[in-house]
Amino acid sequence: MTPLEALRRSFGGRASIPFSEYMELALYDPAVGFYARGGRAGRGADFLTSPEVGPLFGAVIARALDEWWIAAGRPDPFVVVEVGAGPGTLARSIRFAAPECSGSLLHVLVERSAFQRSLHGSHLPGWMGERAGFELEAFVSSPQDGGGPQFVSAAELPAVFTGVVLANELLDNLPFDILRVRADGAIEELRVVWAADAVSLDSVAEPASPALAAAVGELLARTPELPRDAWFPWQGGATGWLDEVFTRLTRGHVLVFDYGGSTAELARRSDLGWLRTFRDQQRGVHPLDAPGAQDITCDVAIDQLRAGRPAGEVLTQAEFLRRHGIDDLVAEGLAIWNERAHLGDLAAIRGRSAMREAEALLDPEGLGAFIVLHWEHRLGG
Ligand SMILES: C[S@@+](CC[C@H](N)C(=O)[O-])C[C@H]1O[C@@H](n2cnc3c(N)ncnc32)[C@H](O)[C@@H]1O
Repeated sequence: MTPLEALRRSFGGRASIPFSEYMELALYDPAVGFYARGGRAGRGADFLTSPEVGPLFGAVIARALDEWWIAAGRPDPFVVVEVGAGPGTLARSIRFAAPECSGSLLHVLVERSAFQRSLHGSHLPGWMGERAGFELEAFVSSPQDGGGPQFVSAAELPAVFTGVVLANELLDNLPFDILRVRADGAIEELRVVWAADAVSLDSVAEPASPALAAAVGELLARTPELPRDAWFPWQGGATGWLDEVFTRLTRGHVLVFDYGGSTAELARRSDLGWLRTFRDQQRGVHPLDAPGAQDITCDVAIDQLRAGRPAGEVLTQAEFLRRHGIDDLVAEGLAIWNERAHLGDLAAIRGRSAMREAEALLDPEGLGAFIVLHWEHRLGG
């Protein structure tokens, strides 16, 4: 079946579908979705992310994990659930950094794409295979007694756990809708319309469901400056995912990295300037033009994620990485380079690479400007 055929079938006789439903199919359909067909992060793949810049990002995360592990009284197991783990590069860098918590570490790589889960075992010593259901529950409660780190892959979050949730560039990939509020207060949606064997984006003024009208009403109350008649992303997938995380995580930290801005800032951009596509390290074509053949992503409306859970802190990636010691790691790398440059061995090359990686990770025009949301969470507390 071609992606267009799959898409036509998913309309099921309806004249239009929400953009989120289109995105779900174009990215995650098991037969035709971009991530099911091999799309992924990485050099030589479709787009570059912080973990893929090199091992430095994971080394800083490893320091943050140690800090939280020590503050929690050195729990064993120490469960880290990384969601949207992609090919597993961040897990590999954390392992390589050998943090103090390693002996107790149970790292769960939650990844929707079966293809990417199949890549995890090949480069993660201590990988225990895939787990689901009761077996996953048993895994996240198994003490390591110093024998960690252990890694396991899963298609979904564990049902209940205590520990840390990490997600780098996940939220921008979770299906969103496209809404605007008219001057008279009516809510309009940009939906995907099927006509003459092709799809297009069309604004549809449908009476919003009471739940959506109430949620948008809350957004307007919080954001009176939201421009009228201007399209913005409605982060149903991302807020639903966070709700899920906060239900399943009994106690611990939630740390997400992504690009984004406020809903009002995004709405001010013309031509849906917050909506982008990528493939083969380049910007792709119109989001409707190649379903399944390119990534679809948006700048994340951060205020929508914080609504109802505002206690979390918001930093830039550069601030977070500095707070957790990136400068020390670069200085260590520089010292090794100065000592060993004449040998030109792997340690020397890694030392020099840390400086280059830091430049990219801290770039105020690029990765350094990403937003980091951090919550310390206790269920019911
Ligand atoms: C942009 S990639 C980021 C990969 C990796 N975190 C990185 O920074 O290189 C987003 C990944 O999230 C995965 N994903 C999307 N929704 C997911 C979900 N609900 N649970 C687990 N993984 C998901 C996608 O399959 C994709 O591999």
